[in-house]
Amino acid sequence: MGNRSSRTTWSPDGWQRLEARHQPDYPDQTAYQAVLEQLATLPPIVFPGEIVQLRGRIAEAAAGRQFILHGGDCVERFIDCTPQTITNKLKILLQMSVILSHAARRPVLRIGRIAGQYFKPRSAAFETIAGRTVPTYRGDTINGYAADQREPDPERLLKGYFHATATLNYIRSMIDGGFADLHQPYSWNLHSIEQTHRWGEYRAIVDHILDAIHFMESFGGLRNENLGRIDFYTSHEGLHLGYERALTRPEGERWYDTSAHLLWIGERTRDRAQAHVEFFRGVSNPIGVKLSATAEPRDIVALARELDPDGEAGRLMLITRLGEEQVRGRLPDLIEAVASAGLDVAWMCDPMHGNTTTLAGGRKTRDFDSVLGELDATFEVHRAAGTHLAGVHFELTGDDVTECTGGALELAERDLEARYESYCDPRLNYAQSLEMAFLISRFLREQRPG
Ligand code: PEP
Ligand code: CO
Repeated sequence: MGNRSSRTTWSPDGWQRLEARHQPDYPDQTAYQAVLEQLATLPPIVFPGEIVQLRGRIAEAAAGRQFILHGGDCVERFIDCTPQTITNKLKILLQMSVILSHAARRPVLRIGRIAGQYFKPRSAAFETIAGRTVPTYRGDTINGYAADQREPDPERLLKGYFHATATLNYIRSMIDGGFADLHQPYSWNLHSIEQTHRWGEYRAIVDHILDAIHFMESFGGLRNENLGRIDFYTSHEGLHLGYERALTRPEGERWYDTSAHLLWIGERTRDRAQAHVEFFRGVSNPIGVKLSATAEPRDIVALARELDPDGEAGRLMLITRLGEEQVRGRLPDLIEAVASAGLDVAWMCDPMHGNTTTLAGGRKTRDFDSVLGELDATFEVHRAAGTHLAGVHFELTGDDVTECTGGALELAERDLEARYESYCDPRLNYAQSLEMAFLISRFLREQRPG
């Protein structure tokens, strides 16, 4: 309490007094300040009204009346800001949402890790590439992936802003214009799958996919039953506080971070005494917090109170990413602590970040079965606790990449070099994502309301 009462007043710049981890060190501070000033004059990327609407939908999901599909790249790349790649990302999320909604008998709320997911926290500040020690890559808004572009450049923040607006503008126009070519990326993937010797095994899944697509088309494309249009929200990790502050604007009595609808605080920056929690406690967007197996139940209760002092429905999403082996040991105590404190949160599961392995050559990968295993255990623990899993959080792409092992095509470690494109963590590819949606449908059927 003592700690909280000293913090009852909030100002959008109050975080600057505290330690902020994972912030770039700009060699030219004058140039950095000039960029922040320019960002502060630019239009909001999303509107407060949409943010409020999303909070309402997350509240519904927390109560078990909707289900959340949250997903996209680990880190977006500027070179992927193309119509085809954005279309493929949107389509895989929409197709998965139809499969999930069919199984759950609930509307599915779609939130992309998109239009602003350009910032990465990194465990190591430096790495060695071809014998040279260089700063690690921190996302296209900070530095470049090429070894000779690793110096943080503030101009990249402006580029990030404009890539986010271009991406969201294209998403909005696709939604308003309808999806005439829903089958297109599907047929393209089907073609590549048919070439493989595993086609026989894959056939049954493809038949399900076809059914799902017909199902989607039969209810008028992908329009939301209530709103008469597709609803889709954006999110990214709220990491770079200078950038987030510049896009945070007052509206009535409240402040909204207009860089995205939902911001989440990463596992590495959720310390209550530090700048990220201080900044985000004062903005009115829904806020996610990632929780690894090191999360202490008492700490998480205190953190939840800090971020959501008024217990506002739909404000807080707790995203567990414990690792397949840790769920049964760790999750029950977290759920119990939050429930006994009387807190209303949306529980989410990110089955990706606790199941990452590094191969001998340095590639990071994740195995399809571990991802599925964490989900299975998480659904089971929530069922036993009498709580709802409000949704799932994936790193995935609509493209045919080779980054995670397993799945119906049984990608092996030796297959990963073929099309490993991620600049950071490995994503489920198009086929693995669809298959994942079918497999978790089973858990959702058991969780159906009423
Ligand atoms: C991420 O979501 O890409 C990420 C870095 O996650 P976490 O903070 O859970 O490690
Ligand atoms: Co990641």
